[in-house]
Amino acid sequence: MGRPVMRGGAMDANDQVRALRWDGATLQILDQRLLPAEVRWLVATDASETARAIHDMAVRGAPAIGLAGAYGLVMAARALASADAFGWQAGITAAVRLLAASRPTAVNLAGALSHLEIIARQGAPGDWQALERAADGLWAADLAANRRMGELGSAYLAPGTQVLTHCNTGSLATAGLGTALGVIRTAWAQDRLARVFATESRPWLQGARLTSWELNRDGIPVSLIVDSAAAFFMARGEIDWVIVGADRITANGDVANKIGTYALAVAARHHGLRFMVVAPSTTVDLALAEGGEIPIEFRGPEEVLRLAGRAGPEPLLEAPNPVFDVTPAALIDVLVTEKGAIERPDARTLAALMARS
Ligand code: MRU
Repeated sequence: MGRPVMRGGAMDANDQVRALRWDGATLQILDQRLLPAEVRWLVATDASETARAIHDMAVRGAPAIGLAGAYGLVMAARALASADAFGWQAGITAAVRLLAASRPTAVNLAGALSHLEIIARQGAPGDWQALERAADGLWAADLAANRRMGELGSAYLAPGTQVLTHCNTGSLATAGLGTALGVIRTAWAQDRLARVFATESRPWLQGARLTSWELNRDGIPVSLIVDSAAAFFMARGEIDWVIVGADRITANGDVANKIGTYALAVAARHHGLRFMVVAPSTTVDLALAEGGEIPIEFRGPEEVLRLAGRAGPEPLLEAPNPVFDVTPAALIDVLVTEKGAIERPDARTLAALMARS
């Protein structure tokens, strides 16, 4: 111990929660499967425990799993500190593979791992502290990005705006503050919000369990609705903006995000509402041309069956469970990153945005 447990700066009144703590040797993970009923911290002591925590959703959200993966790799590197050059490289490669396989859709995980892997290859074998510094840097950069995106996104919202958000994109899903939830928090602090709707976000209930919990802790009132009620409230004129995060954004501006995002974008366009995606540049994957190329994670049927009150598989009952979908760029009114915001993103405007320093 002895090292500060927080990275990237202090929390403020509108940012009260952290998903992870790093103490210089182990990664503490706020177990998001238990929230809000129970606040319990898991301790991951190596890369494989970290990979399991990511796969099993103890930590989730694109930037947060990127950071967890980074510290998982730092722990692997620390254990390899006295290996020879060959053992160091082989051990790093194995840990990167293990961690990267834990969840496929959010590019933040693969991106963070590859950033650290390059440092491990270029530096002196055994220099695990260089990886720790890099992971700390990712943490600070993500928090700074969220603060910047909060300001940029909030500027689009007129006073009295009614917002709907999906899944959880808050401090639990990031280094702190959040992406879409960072915009919502900032807009609340700037007195621009009349109402926030959170969808339940089945089957994991990130909205019902996590977004509601975070907003409540910050004293921000929230209306929790079942996923299928979104269009109902849109039709009644009770929503002005849908604001969501992203797990991967391809070169043409297509966005993978929590299952149900695509339906919200279609419904928003039908009702003439505006649709905003908020994500750091670490979520943009220019190597993929369009959304059809994004690997979409399917999780087990038991996640769907449990909420439907079914004890387990039945012979004539299937429960395919894609956990992300792709919203075409054409349905996105505003894309906010820390580098700036663009309206109606496409390949040209996104490339220009990503080229900014
Ligand atoms: O399955 P999850 O909970 O990891 O999915 C999370 C989302 O889809 C979020 O909207 C996305 O990661 C952005 S979080 C800032």
